[in-house]
Amino acid sequence: VCIGDTMATLHLGQVLSFDGSPFDEGHDAVWHERRGALAVEGDRILAVGPADAMRAAHPAAEVIDHGDGLIVPGFVDAHAHYPQTGMIASWGKRLIDWLNHYTFPEEMRFADPAHARAVAGRYLDLLLDHGTTSVCTYCTIHPASVDAIFEAAEARGMRVFAGKTCMDRDTAPEGLRDSAQSAYDDSKALLERWHGTGRASYVITPRFSPTSTVAQLEALGALWGEHPDCLMQTHLSEQVDEIAWVKSLYPSARDYLDTYEAHGLLGAGGLYGHAIHLEPRERDRLREVGASLIHCPTSNTFIGSGLFDMGGLTREGQIVGLATDTGGGSSFSMLRTMAAAYEIGQLRHRPLHASELLWLATQGSARALHVDDRIGNLAAGMEADFIVLDLASTPAIAQRVAQAGDIWEALFPTIMMGDDRAVTSTWVAGRKR
Ligand code: GUN
Ligand code: ZN
Repeated sequence: VCIGDTMATLHLGQVLSFDGSPFDEGHDAVWHERRGALAVEGDRILAVGPADAMRAAHPAAEVIDHGDGLIVPGFVDAHAHYPQTGMIASWGKRLIDWLNHYTFPEEMRFADPAHARAVAGRYLDLLLDHGTTSVCTYCTIHPASVDAIFEAAEARGMRVFAGKTCMDRDTAPEGLRDSAQSAYDDSKALLERWHGTGRASYVITPRFSPTSTVAQLEALGALWGEHPDCLMQTHLSEQVDEIAWVKSLYPSARDYLDTYEAHGLLGAGGLYGHAIHLEPRERDRLREVGASLIHCPTSNTFIGSGLFDMGGLTREGQIVGLATDTGGGSSFSMLRTMAAAYEIGQLRHRPLHASELLWLATQGSARALHVDDRIGNLAAGMEADFIVLDLASTPAIAQRVAQAGDIWEALFPTIMMGDDRAVTSTWVAGRKR
């Protein structure tokens, strides 16, 4: 169809892409080609198909042969805290003590814009090494921490979602508090500077109800009402102690979700991190409005939060994304995150299939972020964010894969045992990073 497209590049390898969600349609939702090809022109995918047909259709294209490598969409991490890069894997605390002990002191360091720039660049490079091409991240209360991550993303061509974390209650420490007004003003200024600039998306970001006053939740709810095309991210029902704390701070709220709902912070563009210990009313409202629930499995086990109900929530039609929650999460890797999601699924008697895990880490998270028509899949017209996986990246994985009967048996050992060594190359908007 595109004879003479001299600018096109043809990537040869195994190719996996989605025609639908494996949660709805099983493995039929997945297209796998042993000798496949991905045609890329500029920053877009031109076509996907069997290698022979693609070579015939694009005779002038430059060819890059990835051999047995598996070409899949770049991973999409739907919830992370880039400022916590330096304190990942901090020992021995549960949520509230963990925040006070490790997180808040680390986030104070971002008062220095040079520090924010250094961590933002290091963080995005770590993501690319691990095959993650898009992330939705919290920043700190400091506006410069938002500039730092968007500038670092722009330099790497990455589609990144980020927002200034807002905290104005005295539950947050001195030095890490804004006010209702400054949170509104700073968020609005950052939104106007960054939202829709290149691949940047601004996300309105009240950290969670325990660190905001009602006045701040209302101000951010109003800002969201003025910019409904922005996403809004926060935390919801992560630990039992946290829920009791919310009840004590908001005595008239019907439940945790109501602290957001009552202040304009519940909607289709809402991203609710963790969402583990939900009441029936909360589940009903989240589903009714089409909100996104973000599963953070390595964090949930690492901080001891609980077991996300993937089976029940997907069955009732909730929108679910997958995320590392770095640095409450113990990894930068979406492979490791898929493995943890599998293990939590086992504890809840809902073993997730490799196709479901890969979908969650790509299309599922992209859908949760409302960009599944742009990223998270390999299809004509989509942005060319993809990775090449080596399905035999270590001797331990290779000896297991030698006995694999099909693509799922070949992929699952890499999901369970793989790390950044499994990511042969990462391509962002058509360019190798
Ligand atoms: N709840 C509020 N802030 C945080 C955070 O930084 N990490 C996690 N895991 N939970 C939170
Ligand atoms: Zn979080």
